[in-house]
Amino acid sequence: MADDTTDTKSSNQMWGGRFASGPDAIMEEINASIGFDKKLFAQDIRGSIAHATMLAHQGIISAEDKDKIVHGLNTILSEIESGNFEFSRQLEDIHMNVEARLATLIGPAAGRLHTARSRNDQVALDFRLWVKEELQKTEQMLTGLIAAFLDRAEEHAESVMPGFTHLQTAQPVTFGHHCMAYVEMFGRDRARVRHAIEHLDESPIGAAALAGTGYPIDRHMTAKALGFREPTRNSIDTVSDRDFAIEFLSIAAIAGMHLSRLAEEIVIWSTPQFGFVRLSDAFSTGSSIMPQKKNPDAAELVRAKTGRINGSLVALLTIMKGLPLAYSKDMQEDKEQVFDAAESLELAIAAMTGMVRDMTVNTARMKAAAGSGYSTATDLADWLVREAGLPFRDAHHVTGRAVALAESKGCDLSELPLSDLQAIHSDITDKVYDVLTVEASVASRKSFGGTAPSEVRRQIAFWRARN
Ligand code: ARG
Repeated sequence: MADDTTDTKSSNQMWGGRFASGPDAIMEEINASIGFDKKLFAQDIRGSIAHATMLAHQGIISAEDKDKIVHGLNTILSEIESGNFEFSRQLEDIHMNVEARLATLIGPAAGRLHTARSRNDQVALDFRLWVKEELQKTEQMLTGLIAAFLDRAEEHAESVMPGFTHLQTAQPVTFGHHCMAYVEMFGRDRARVRHAIEHLDESPIGAAALAGTGYPIDRHMTAKALGFREPTRNSIDTVSDRDFAIEFLSIAAIAGMHLSRLAEEIVIWSTPQFGFVRLSDAFSTGSSIMPQKKNPDAAELVRAKTGRINGSLVALLTIMKGLPLAYSKDMQEDKEQVFDAAESLELAIAAMTGMVRDMTVNTARMKAAAGSGYSTATDLADWLVREAGLPFRDAHHVTGRAVALAESKGCDLSELPLSDLQAIHSDITDKVYDVLTVEASVASRKSFGGTAPSEVRRQIAFWRARN
C-alpha cells in the first residue's frame, strides 16, 4: 500500500503495481458501483472492525495497528453519516472508498486491514448484513399490518358481506373473516421472512477470494462479533452465493402479490358502485377536473409496485443463472435490484397498513349486497338435506328451481311465498325462512376455519397470541 499510494493518478492505488495506466472513462463508468453500494457503508465498516479485531486477536496484526484501524474506521463512519465524505468513482466501490480514506487518515497501518480477506468475501458480508437488517425490518412491518387487520377483524367479526368466487356473489361471509384471510397470507409472508433470516445467518468473512486463507484467522470469532449464528462452511460457495438476495426478492414478490390483491379489492370496494369501504382523505387523492372524485391512488400504486419487485426477482435470477463458480463481476448488479425492491416493499406495506387502519367500512352496504344474488341458495339446499332428508344433489336441483322462480319474479329467495316454495317441494315448511337470512347463513358455518362469528373470534385469538 505504501508503494501504491505514490502513483494514484495513473493507475489504481489498490492494484496499481501490475498496471501501467488507469482505466478508460467508459471502463470506469461500467465498473464503478459506488453510486449505489455506498448504501452499504455502515455494514462495510462494521465488518472491517470485526475483521481487524480478529486479526489482532490472532496475532496477525499488532494491537497498535488494530487500534489505529478501528479509530480510523469510526472516524470514517461519522464522516459519512454527517455527509462529510467525498465518494470517488475512481475508487470503484464502497470497500475501496473506505480503505483509501483510511490510508489518508492513519497511514501505512491501513494497508494491513485487507490481510486475509478479499472484496469477494467483503461484499458478500456487507450485503448479507444489509439484507438481514432489511428482513428484520420487513418482519416488523408485516407484524404491524397483521395487527391492523386483527383490529378490523375484531370490530367486524359479525359484519356480513357477500363472499365471492369468480367475483360473483357466492355465499355470505363476515368482513372479519375476510380480514383474517389476509392475516393468514401476511402471516405466511412473515414466516418466510423468518426462515430467510435463519438461512442467511452465516458469516461469509474469511472465505477470502474463494479458497480461504493461509493466515491463522478465527472465522467463528468474526461470525459471533457480527451477530451471525456461525461461519459459512465452504469458501467457494460463500463468494458465489447470492441465494440470500434471491430469497429476499422471492419473499418480496410473494408478499407483493398479496399486497396487490388487497390493493385490487380496495380499489373495487371503494368504487361508488360497491361502496363497501371509504378511504380516508389521508390515503386517497382528488381529481384536478372532477370535483366528486376520490381516487384510491395509494392502492393502485401498491398494485403497480408489485411489477417492479417481480422485475427485480427475474433480473437477479437471470444475472446469476449462467455464472460459473465462484465470484464474477456480474454479481455486482445484485444490489440495485434488492435496494429497489426493498424500497417498494416497505412503501407498499406502510401504505396498506395505513389504508386498512383508516378506511371506513360501510356495513349497511355490505349487508345489503350480501343478501342479493341469491347468496343463501346453498343454505336452502342444506336445509332440504337436513330437514327434509333429501340427497344433496336433489336439494341442489330443487333450490335451483326456487332461484329461477325468484329471478322470474324479481324477488329474493326469502321473499318467495311459502306456497311457491311448497309447489316446488312439498316438504318445505315456514321454518325454512330461518336459514334464508344472511345472519343465519354465516352463523351456521361453524366448521373449523369457517365464517361464523364464533369461528372468526377463535381465529383472531389464535393470531393475537402469535403477533
Ligand atoms: N463492487 C464489487 C461488487 O459489488 C465488490 C467485489 C469486487 N470483487 C472483485 N474481485 N472485483 O460485487
